This record gives sequence, structure tokens and C-alpha cells, in this order.
Amino acid sequence: MGKSLIAYFSRTGEQYGVGVIAEGNTKKLAEIIAEQTNGDLFEIKVVEDNYPNTYTSLIQFAKKEKQENARPQLTDKVDNIDDYDNIFVGYPNWWGDMPMPVYTFLESYDLSGKNIYHFCTHEGSGGVKADGLAMYGHIAQTDREETVKRVEQWLKNIEL
Ligand SMILES: Cc1cc2nc3c(=O)[nH]c(=O)nc-3n(C[C@H](O)[C@H](O)[C@H](O)COP(=O)(O)O)c2cc1C
Repeated sequence: MGKSLIAYFSRTGEQYGVGVIAEGNTKKLAEIIAEQTNGDLFEIKVVEDNYPNTYTSLIQFAKKEKQENARPQLTDKVDNIDDYDNIFVGYPNWWGDMPMPVYTFLESYDLSGKNIYHFCTHEGSGGVKADGLAMYGHIAQTDREETVKRVEQWLKNIEL
């Protein structure tokens, strides 16, 4: 199976369909993937965290960041990236795309030769193809049993 890193970006505050949450939808999903793979979690965090906590403001903020093709600086780096065979990269679908800090993350390392698996949460658009896992955010937030089932099925499919 090899060693797995589960890197994710996720927000608390007001999110679509689930109200104000203390733990992000994608974070919940990431934790389950980490449990199932015996992997290490890494949260992708920005140095200047100006993301609004209300949904409508966050929508606007994220739209601008995407239009600017921004690369927000991240707080931490994975020092031992070479130790990992599998890199799981998780994020919420933002405007049909990955949040810009996830681009910063992916561009910060030489990931050649590694297995990369994407997973995302969303509220209707899905968002990853091929070997990825797309999951409704409100299900990741509220239905652990269903989330565990989907993760197990996914890991079986990608033959991890
Ligand atoms: C800025 C922003 C843009 C979004 N754009 C989409 C979208 O294009 N399609 C979609 O299905 N959901 C979209 N959503 C919903 C999120 O993908 C969904 O609520 C996700 O589970 C949030 O995850 P988090 O709690 O880990 O941040 C958007 C949410 C935000 C805040």
C-alpha cells in the first residue's frame, strides 16, 4: 500500500447547506481517508487568512482570488514529502475549481513518481474525474456512516 499523505484545504464558518460549522466538510472526509489508509494528515493553510466566515462574502472573495489566479502563501511545508508514496489532495469545489491555495500546494513539490488521488466535497457539481472521489459536503458533514462507506469503496476501486 505504501505510505499516504492526506493534504486538504477546508473551511469552517458558514457553508452551503450545513449552516455554521466548526469542522469543515472536506476535513471530515480527509480524516476518514487518513483512518482508512493509516495516513498522515496535513492541512493546507494560508499565511494571511482573510477568508470571510459568511457564505456570500466567501463566494465573492473566492471568485476574485480565482480571477486573479492567485497563489496565496502557505504557512507550512511537508518536510518529509519523499517519505510518501501516495498523496491524497482534498478540497471543496470552489467555482468549479480548486481553491487557489491548493494550486500553491501542488506547485510547491516535485511529486513525480507518486500516486496522486484527488477528493473533493461539493454541493452538486461534483468536481473530480478519473480516480478521484467527489462527495456531497453536507453528507461528509452529517453522515459519517455513509462517508466511511464511500471512502472504503473508493479505496477498493483505486486498489490502494
Ligand atoms: C467559494 C465557494 C464556491 C463554491 N462553488 C461550488 C461549485 O461551483 N459547485 C458546487 O457544487 N459547490 C460549490 N460550493 C460548495 C462547497 O464545495 C461545499 O459546501 C464544500 O463541501 C465546502 O467544503 P469545506 O467545508 O471543506 O470548505 C462552493 C462553496 C464556496 C464557499
